[in-house]
Amino acid sequence: MVKILSIGKATQDVFLKSDEFDPHKEGTHMFTHLPLGLKMEVEDVTFSTGGNATNVAVTFARQGLQASYMWALGHDPASETILHALDAEGVDTSAVVQDERYQSGYSVILIATNGERTILNHRGYAGGKHPKLDYAAIHSADWIYPTSLGDGGLPLLRHIVDEAEKHQVKVMLNPAGPELAEPDKLKALLESVDVLCTNKEEMQLLVAGETLEELALHALHYVPVAIVSDGPNGVVATDGKTLVRAGMYEDVPVIDRTGAGDAFASGFLSQWSQGKSLKESIIFASANSTSVVTKIGAKDGILHRGVKLHEMPIHERPVNAREA
Ligand SMILES: Nc1ncnc2c1ncn2[C@@H]1O[C@H](COP(=O)(O)OP(=O)(O)OP(=O)(O)O)[C@@H](O)[C@H]1O
Ligand SMILES: [Mg+2]
Repeated sequence: MVKILSIGKATQDVFLKSDEFDPHKEGTHMFTHLPLGLKMEVEDVTFSTGGNATNVAVTFARQGLQASYMWALGHDPASETILHALDAEGVDTSAVVQDERYQSGYSVILIATNGERTILNHRGYAGGKHPKLDYAAIHSADWIYPTSLGDGGLPLLRHIVDEAEKHQVKVMLNPAGPELAEPDKLKALLESVDVLCTNKEEMQLLVAGETLEELALHALHYVPVAIVSDGPNGVVATDGKTLVRAGMYEDVPVIDRTGAGDAFASGFLSQWSQGKSLKESIIFASANSTSVVTKIGAKDGILHRGVKLHEMPIHERPVNAREA
């Protein structure tokens, strides 16, 4: 069974919904100003766990892979909830270091009546620039998926990727904000990355190109497999042999787009790591992310093994030698 270790921050997300969070309502500006001293009723509270690395671990587990998760967490209620949620999904958390100096992230997310959101975020603390993790856990994985490494940033990513490379462990990268802050340094470590998946704006920080196709092909100078997504406008993926261009899996009502990117990238790897084709992997990635945006929270909509998929607009063509 394929073993995938995801590494990175975890959060407790609390989603609050209220008719008062109406950006168009006359006389109120609930999203820019919460009046001091006000007690405002909210109709709906949804507790969920987040953090890119925990979201992707749940896709891997629900797809029947051996999923494990590594990070530093505390004994705070949010950290305990996160560990409990991962255990319940069958994610192996034995590589989590728990210590009272650490604390998970915590976000309160105000969902507006139009689906937009405002986030009050506490970043948590996992040991700063040098989290004391059991990096040997990387050696026994088939794949690692590092993301959102907090204050560790690029130096920590470099360390993790080097460990993987030394032990012939494959790496999928869907970089988050802190890793994208210094694109040149990120590019320097791409030679150790097997699959790179980003959205369009992120890929434009790394390579030149206007269209998804140009961006994906240019990324092949750095990595063997490149995937570029652009929300409802579709996605292009290439492994240097074929190029797949896909549209939207389904035009669904978007309830909360938290976790769309995670569901897409992890959906891809859950299939690709099992030897599925580029096209099959993109179809599942698209279905997984589309399902996630129809539910509140980043994990609720993640697809389970054996789910029936339907057709989607998708086109595959060979890549010729001049392009790659
Ligand atoms: N409105 C939508 N309807 C259907 N599917 C969507 C929608 N938005 C996103 N998706 C799906 O999610 C995938 C990833 O979305 P996107 O390209 O926005 O990634 P992202 O910007 O990395 O997201 P994130 O902000 O979560 O990191 C898309 O390729 C698509 O399959
Ligand atoms: Mg993303």
